[in-house]
Amino acid sequence: MEEIFERVAQLKAEKNAVILAHYYVNGDVQQVADYIGDSYYLSKVATTLSEKVIVFAGVNFMADSAKVLNPDKKVILPDSTADCPMAHMVTTAQIKKVRELYEDVAIVCYINSTLELKAESDVCVTSANAVKVVKALPNKNIFFIPDKNLAHFVAEQIPEKHFIYNEGYCPVHNYMAVKYVEEIKEKYPDIKILAHPECPRQVLAQADYIGSTSGIIDFAKASKDTKFLICTENGVGHKLQLDNPDKMFIFNDLSICQDMKKITLQSVIKSLESLAPEVEIDLELSKKALKPLEKMLELAK
Ligand code: 13P
Ligand code: SF4
Repeated sequence: MEEIFERVAQLKAEKNAVILAHYYVNGDVQQVADYIGDSYYLSKVATTLSEKVIVFAGVNFMADSAKVLNPDKKVILPDSTADCPMAHMVTTAQIKKVRELYEDVAIVCYINSTLELKAESDVCVTSANAVKVVKALPNKNIFFIPDKNLAHFVAEQIPEKHFIYNEGYCPVHNYMAVKYVEEIKEKYPDIKILAHPECPRQVLAQADYIGSTSGIIDFAKASKDTKFLICTENGVGHKLQLDNPDKMFIFNDLSICQDMKKITLQSVIKSLESLAPEVEIDLELSKKALKPLEKMLELAK
């Protein structure tokens, strides 16, 4: 393993490359990353890098956003098929229809979406900043795309606004069953439930804490409790165990994002050697998608 890590370090120096990784990728990939975080942190970091090459250990929408924020850098997604299914769960035609129906409407686009959707939106959000960003908008009506679960979570905290919902969901989080949570609670009565807002409402209703992946990690570290059921993707377990060797974390075995797991140490090394597959985006599309991303970074400050 040491040899592999040395090879990655050598390639990074040779190619003037930096590795960004989401908490959902495999632990060994997180180990070679220069920056690890949730979607919000990674999008912020992407605006501050000096290296010429960004290797993004994550899925399409993350690497695409990094490229939009850094049009002059080479952005590499080690497996170009690593795609988020939710990113496609609304259409630009639906957005246009809502714009026709409502005068005072903001299209709020979860960052887990294609660039075509971002380009038609007013502002992007991540799970870490959605409430803050939506609260800051002047509009009465909010069309929140694509995730229905995050939309409802945000709407509950901003009752003064009118939300229009879309039927998108994350296949990993949406199948988190309330029955499973209850079973674990029965087995460990003192367990704390930490959930990502992409989970269904009934699961969120059982949670002691709801937040982004970074939020969950920070909460668990600061907590005096020692047993946690983590209702999000299993990759988060790597950091949780590193930070809290004496605490117990339970994950649902089914909570695995197959697309995030396509990024392996081997594919990272291969992509550093070949500087491929490179993210390539139409310039006009990139300019349009930049606006809502920049607005998010501005409003979330
Ligand atoms: P966060 O990184 O905002 O916690 O989102 C989780 C997710 O599903 C990323 O794909
Ligand atoms: Fe998409 Fe869900 Fe995977 Fe995140 S965990 S990349 S939302 S499918």
